Amino acid sequence: MQHLTRRSLVLGGLGIAGAGALGACSGSQPSTTAKAFGTPTPLATTPGQRVTTANLVAKQTTLDLGGPKVATWTYGDTAPGPLIRATAGDLVRVTLDNQLPADTTIHWHGIALANAADGVPGMTQDPIKPGTRYTYQFVAPDPGTYFYHPHVGVQLDRGLYAALVVDDPREPGAYDHEYVVVLDDWVDGTGRTPDDVLKELVAKGGSATSGGMGGMGGMDHGSMGMGSGTAPFGDAGDVVYPHYLINGRVPATPDVLEAKPGQKVRLRVINAASDTIFTVALGSHRMTVTHSDGFPVLPTETGAFYIGMGERYDAVVTLQDGVFPLVAAPFGKQGQAMALIRTGSGSAPAATTRPAELAGPVLHGSALAAAESARLAKKDIDATASVQLNGQMAPYQWGINGGKFGENDPIMFSKGQRVRLDLANMTMMTHPFHIHGHTFGLVNSGLRKDTVLLRPMETIAVELQADNAGDWAAHCHNIYHAEAGMMIAMIYRA
Ligand code: C2O
Ligand code: CU
Repeated sequence: MQHLTRRSLVLGGLGIAGAGALGACSGSQPSTTAKAFGTPTPLATTPGQRVTTANLVAKQTTLDLGGPKVATWTYGDTAPGPLIRATAGDLVRVTLDNQLPADTTIHWHGIALANAADGVPGMTQDPIKPGTRYTYQFVAPDPGTYFYHPHVGVQLDRGLYAALVVDDPREPGAYDHEYVVVLDDWVDGTGRTPDDVLKELVAKGGSATSGGMGGMGGMDHGSMGMGSGTAPFGDAGDVVYPHYLINGRVPATPDVLEAKPGQKVRLRVINAASDTIFTVALGSHRMTVTHSDGFPVLPTETGAFYIGMGERYDAVVTLQDGVFPLVAAPFGKQGQAMALIRTGSGSAPAATTRPAELAGPVLHGSALAAAESARLAKKDIDATASVQLNGQMAPYQWGINGGKFGENDPIMFSKGQRVRLDLANMTMMTHPFHIHGHTFGLVNSGLRKDTVLLRPMETIAVELQADNAGDWAAHCHNIYHAEAGMMIAMIYRA
């Protein structure tokens, strides 16, 4: 049975307001400053508005990953959990029944929703206690590929994740099949839980001598023995995983999409991993990338593309005749995830097949250009803030703007402003930086994203329209980094 220590429970409050109390991490005092949110006011439908409903149960279960059996936590009895599908403009109502032995919440990743439904405990809602229910209500304004996951501790690295697809009522749907492809790195139930992994990271990092909080921005990462990594991401992950999954299956017994030769399939690829960037390729095919984080891009053909934690890419492929491996290779790590697309006879490729496309040019999604319809309306910048990602592996400390979450100052601006954020990675690791409640535009290209990969020492300027007031989280989507403190609040009021 899973047991959370008091310390991990305290650390587990990814969004506990006033978490500055964590500084004295002795575990002697739980935070007393968390505000109470109560039950959100029910939202009424507007005339003609459709309602999409779902009921989820978060629970402990034993999963079959297609061979390995693991005790874990899931939504329902599967990982990924139930796909939720809505049409843009729908009122979405999802009730979560928390049957876990721990507090939880759900974050609707990438959706520009009402703040109260954002799922950050201590910032937008009270944690959902074991044995209780909570109803999320929000309008899903923009079509695209999204996902949902908890925002408590390192629960994302269990089986608690699932796709959320928002259909475009005006979309021509110029494809025959759609294939939702959820990538994951898997450790839970293989002898250690994600909470154990976090403790190991802190302990290993803590055993090194260099640095200290004053050393944030330090450059001594690499002391973990993961090697210095290679271009373009350098050191991209801290955790060695026993399994990599597509749609909850190991490569030996893969998930299979059946189709016919010549048909078009839209892949909706979601990286739900906690510590792994993947390179994705479909053997013997070129893919045309059409969307990044839900929003359309200028269609771009490639043999392979990178996808960071929290990112989504959609691609359309015209299928050949045969059986083809869809492979997600973990960047800088051993092993792979694989699914199959079958359009004809032939035996399945081996679980270790490496499509040649993986060795060819790989598209880095940040280089895509926004489709005209996806660009923010042109506007002058009203406010600028700098967001510096700090930290290092040893000691295992990650923060933003000089401190970990709760110790750093919230970024404040005003409703209606066009805000420019200068995201600066001051570390020697790659971090996928995610902003809640908004989809920002890259200043250079207009590309719309909600999660962007920042390579070691890289700076990327993004802008967003402050049109969705509230208390928003912004953080690294390496869930271990976020939990260690690589998160900041972004606040503006109506
Ligand atoms: Cu998918 Cu705050 O994260
Ligand atoms: Cu990070």
